[in-house]
Amino acid sequence: MPTGSTDHRDRDRGASSGIYNRGTLRIYDAAVLGVTNSLIWRCPTRTLVDHYRNHAGPSHLDIGPGTGYFLERIDSPLITLLDLNGASLAAAEARIGSGKKVEQIRQSFFSPLEDERRFDSIGLNFLLHCIPGRAKWDRLAELRRHLRPGGTLFGSTVLPGTSTANPLARVLNRTYNRLGVFGNAEDTMADLEAALAGMADVRARQVGQVALFSARRPE
Ligand SMILES: C[S@@+](CC[C@H](N)C(=O)[O-])C[C@H]1O[C@@H](n2cnc3c(N)ncnc32)[C@H](O)[C@@H]1O
Repeated sequence: MPTGSTDHRDRDRGASSGIYNRGTLRIYDAAVLGVTNSLIWRCPTRTLVDHYRNHAGPSHLDIGPGTGYFLERIDSPLITLLDLNGASLAAAEARIGSGKKVEQIRQSFFSPLEDERRFDSIGLNFLLHCIPGRAKWDRLAELRRHLRPGGTLFGSTVLPGTSTANPLARVLNRTYNRLGVFGNAEDTMADLEAALAGMADVRARQVGQVALFSARRPE
């Protein structure tokens, strides 16, 4: 099927319980954050933590929280978790711990949020590369309307970038796309930048195979 016509089930396949469940979430931090990020994508998790901490605001929405590793490392007192996968929502909320107000929204990245919802920041860390097709760029662009004026949309995503990838990265990226774990075969930095166009302070940089981005809703 051409990626332009990716159907609803396919575009949400990266949230399936076959990929993220209690067992796989238990090993995710060690395998992905501990090994793959530095050795294969060549972007140390420390860089992603700094990026996350620098941009998360007091009222924060995380889309695709996974194990909650990054959420455990921010100071935001109000955290909203959005994920289609219930195991990820449960793992992330448990990880955040007490003393913070946490809300869960179980829905797809593509499903609309309530109209009046506004956040100081919206984070999408390692989410976009899980989603096949091109519709994700339009949805990313739409999310700015859920920021308060001055609020920040930020995150990171693995790009296939065959000219910069080492052989292991190329093999792993292709394999993940074949298995449906990733859907980034056609993603480019230009797609990401186009989705953020018109926002303020747009920043997008590549560290190894990972694009780190941030942009603010104008005041
Ligand atoms: C690779 S994990 C990222 C976890 C975490 N953000 C991190 O960086 O460690 C991707 C997360 O996005 C969620 N996800 C993937 N596709 C989604 C979709 N279409 N809608 C909602 N959540 C999705 C998965 O369930 C999972 O929790």
